[in-house]
Amino acid sequence: MKLLEEVQLKLVSSLKGKDLLTLLDYTSEEVQQLVALSSQLKIITKEGKCPKLLEGKTLGMIFEKHSTRTRISFEVGMEQLGGKGMFMHARDLQIGRGESIYDTAHVLSGYLDGIMIRANSHAMVKELAEHATIPVINGLTDIYHPCQALADLETIFENKGELQGLKIAYVGDGNNVAHSLVVASAHVGMHVAVATPVGYECDAEVIAKAQKIAEKNGSTITITNDPVTAVQDADVVYADVWTSMGQEEEAAKRLQDFAGYQINDELVAHAKSDYMFLHCLPAHREEEVATSVIDGPNSYIFEQAENRLHAQKAVLASIMA
Ligand code: CP
Ligand code: NVA
Repeated sequence: MKLLEEVQLKLVSSLKGKDLLTLLDYTSEEVQQLVALSSQLKIITKEGKCPKLLEGKTLGMIFEKHSTRTRISFEVGMEQLGGKGMFMHARDLQIGRGESIYDTAHVLSGYLDGIMIRANSHAMVKELAEHATIPVINGLTDIYHPCQALADLETIFENKGELQGLKIAYVGDGNNVAHSLVVASAHVGMHVAVATPVGYECDAEVIAKAQKIAEKNGSTITITNDPVTAVQDADVVYADVWTSMGQEEEAAKRLQDFAGYQINDELVAHAKSDYMFLHCLPAHREEEVATSVIDGPNSYIFEQAENRLHAQKAVLASIMA
């Protein structure tokens, strides 16, 4: 507690004990506070003063899919906060042999202080959260990737000094990353434009919910099939893969369908000259993004990846401390 006072960290106290399944469940104020807290935690961590707010606490980390950033940043984040992250691949758990989510949720609640899960199905994560008596954090599902979006906001905030009123353009698949980015942008009053090929649009229900949030915060959401419209005068240009985990069988078709949606020099010429390029990673150079853009001077991808660590510590500390 003393350390906490020394650095004047303000945890988001309204999130104590809460799940993080989607940022739609959080208020705009909570999201904005998490971004500010992430930046604070980044500074004090670099000074070697990250407070041990989660001493003695264990986060169970269940993965049904691959991960580099999510797995390592959560594990290191727990360690920096004085706690422990425990990796579990779903196929090694009894869940992989058909044990119910209900029983798993109750059993894990007896051992752990929180669960982070990367799963195929958002419905499964919801069911887990419903029955667990400890907080559950979504580390990516088929519909959302909220931890990524928080790190994205932090990266923009730290480099642009503001979020409200900026324009972010996402070009590609209307997927989990796109959904969370739209919701997160709405919460901070950032204008967001999403350009996808026909048939790959974002989920209409998610966009409708985000729209209500955006209206309250004075920002707009533009849904289009035209990349140039999306990128026009953008402060931030964002890419994700065309083929997400679990969609490998569609890869060849997607490669065709997404032709014309590559973020390259020609496309970013429509953005502001000081635009930031972001990508959640992993990336496929010369597919969704040209090498000259992702490895160019406007790219912030590695800073963005690092910020997963700090944004998640803000979430972990607020919900678990
Ligand atoms: N961006 C992201 O979630 O990366 P990983 O799949 O490596 O966790
Ligand atoms: N949309 C991608 C994001 C990876 C972090 C996927 O789901 O595979």
